[in-house]
Amino acid sequence: MEMSIEIAGIRWKNSITTAAGTFSYKDSPKYYDPALLGAVTTKGVSPERWAGNEIPRIAEVTSGMLNAVGLENPGVDVYIENELQILKAAGATVIANVAGHCKEDYLTVVRKLDITNVDMLELNVSCPNVREGGMAFGVDPDAVYGLTQEIKAITAKPVIVKLSPNVTDICKIAAAAERGGADALSLINTLVGMRIDLKTGRPILANGTGGLSGPAIKPIAISMVYRVSRSVGIPIIGMGGIMTGEDAYEFLLAGATAVAVGTAALIDPQAPVRVLHELEACIEKYGKPVE
Ligand SMILES: Cc1cc2nc3c(=O)[nH]c(=O)nc-3n(C[C@H](O)[C@H](O)[C@H](O)COP(=O)(O)O)c2cc1C
Repeated sequence: MEMSIEIAGIRWKNSITTAAGTFSYKDSPKYYDPALLGAVTTKGVSPERWAGNEIPRIAEVTSGMLNAVGLENPGVDVYIENELQILKAAGATVIANVAGHCKEDYLTVVRKLDITNVDMLELNVSCPNVREGGMAFGVDPDAVYGLTQEIKAITAKPVIVKLSPNVTDICKIAAAAERGGADALSLINTLVGMRIDLKTGRPILANGTGGLSGPAIKPIAISMVYRVSRSVGIPIIGMGGIMTGEDAYEFLLAGATAVAVGTAALIDPQAPVRVLHELEACIEKYGKPVE
């Protein structure tokens, strides 16, 4: 079946990508060929190496998980030399997820990625697990507009802005990103959550709060994709709790052009390709969703 799509001028073999932070260039290829997916989205990358947050960083919850990894990564130079080249040599379409504590951080990473063979950039203005940058940007329409505009001015790569669900009206943030020149949007990042240890009375995560992901957030993600897709004119990559092809199909019906598989891959490392095959079966059964 013809599954290819075009998103922000880039052709994907199909509409499936990985959600940032849940794909490992070292481990995931042991389970499937990354070139089978429409694209692979890699973990947030910052100007220098970030160590991430203290452990414990992960807690299980009903129908999902909390994480407070805190964007641990080796820094953009190492990313470009290792991960990016390995994935490109394997024939994958690569989306680099860009992280920063301040505007200058994002600009530094983008300047370096702009002169590589990376296919697309995804601005993570929605991470709930870093004190500065991340979600602090993503909840403020003016900050999202300004950052998107400055990034677009220094790169020819297509720019995806990744939105946070931790806002009063996600459509306002989506509109600001579109006005700033975003080529596409991705949503949703995780929702702020907490678990408390009954014995100590203290939060289980060392960071206190973490980001909630997995099936628990899918109805929220679907409703946000539905609303945002009707309020902007740029394509949407939908994510949040996709475990099966039927879940992915539901996101396409809500208005997404493509979808990302995240937490599911931490349970079943083959989930992205399994979801792809299940999505194909779903399209045969129900037909291609009309955009
Ligand atoms: C362990 C973990 C690490 C993540 N790291 C990132 C990241 O580096 N950048 C980012 O934009 N989102 C990150 N996310 C958010 C996911 O990309 C995705 O938006 C979210 O988990 C919802 O999708 P899911 O329910 O399918 O996991 C991370 C999520 C998890 C669970």
